[in-house]
Amino acid sequence: MKNVLIFFLMLWLLFPQLAHAQKNLPGVISPGEIWKDDRGQHIQAHGGGIIKIKNLYYWYGEERREGLDTNFRYVSCYSSADLTNWKHLGDALKLSKPDTVLGKWVLERPKVYYNHRTKKYVMYMHVDGSVRNFKSNEPTVTGGYSYARVGVAVSDLPEGPFKFIRTFRPLNRESRDIGQFVDDDGQAYLIFESRPTKGFFIAKLSDDFLDVKEETCFIQAPLEGGAIVHYKGLYYVIGSELTGWRPNPNKFATAKSLSGPWSEFLDFAPSETNTYSSQSTMMIKISGSKKTTVIYMGDQWKPKTQWDSRYLWMPLEIGDGKLWLPKPAPFKINVKTGESKVFTN
Ligand code: DGJ
Repeated sequence: MKNVLIFFLMLWLLFPQLAHAQKNLPGVISPGEIWKDDRGQHIQAHGGGIIKIKNLYYWYGEERREGLDTNFRYVSCYSSADLTNWKHLGDALKLSKPDTVLGKWVLERPKVYYNHRTKKYVMYMHVDGSVRNFKSNEPTVTGGYSYARVGVAVSDLPEGPFKFIRTFRPLNRESRDIGQFVDDDGQAYLIFESRPTKGFFIAKLSDDFLDVKEETCFIQAPLEGGAIVHYKGLYYVIGSELTGWRPNPNKFATAKSLSGPWSEFLDFAPSETNTYSSQSTMMIKISGSKKTTVIYMGDQWKPKTQWDSRYLWMPLEIGDGKLWLPKPAPFKINVKTGESKVFTN
């Protein structure tokens, strides 16, 4: 095995034009390829979120492996010291249908926050399905997305098991796609899309993170898959248009304060690529000893074979109010120095 690795390493050193072969090398993240965990299985953490606790990153996401018990919805958890090699820690949450949801239901885009005061891990998730139509007493079926709530679950350990607490509508609003943001001062925010008002909210979590307590900003833009990063004095928000599982040209805006005012939304990738067939999920900031790198985390959905959906991660070009997603290519990230190296042809 070792000899094989050395052989590939030699090839790469001698023939840089073979950069595309990088995807087969350890330590390299290959956007859009099958990404294997420590068991050799495709990582199942779709629509996910990442937190760092001490020296370990935890990646949570929708578990969509084949053969799951369809009576439940699952959130998986993986850990990594380098953002590249991921250890499968199992199902952090196995949820049966909350009583108040009707019809076919979904659990999407789980995000976990660590609360330093309570020492608890708090998971938010988008729970959706049908609701009763009071006029006819029949379940309302609008694509199964009329329940429009967040669910909350808690755990003492990062890998779970998370105990489900409740579902609710944050700020009494319909809530579909959610995103998480923790500012440099430790304040935690939930980003949630609210269709009736055609935009999305940035809202502060309560001190124990179990509730959504205060609106920070409502951004009037019909976008979902919201994610935020704070970089060199500016906030950058990204989101995708409302086209279901189909990719579209995702957009970004900036503001000096989370409460706005936000700039106009612009594309951050060539529009004809539909964000390289991906949808925004999160941005991870790696503040290293030499550099700060921000990685775009997008999902490449395969609605008919969701277990095979892929991840498009890529270091972003960011700064001075500009944001750009370079053409995806294999890359390495050094989480200690913050430096990345992209292997372009
Ligand atoms: C787009 C959302 O971002 C996904 O999380 C999912 O809800 C799909 N729509 C469902 O069509």
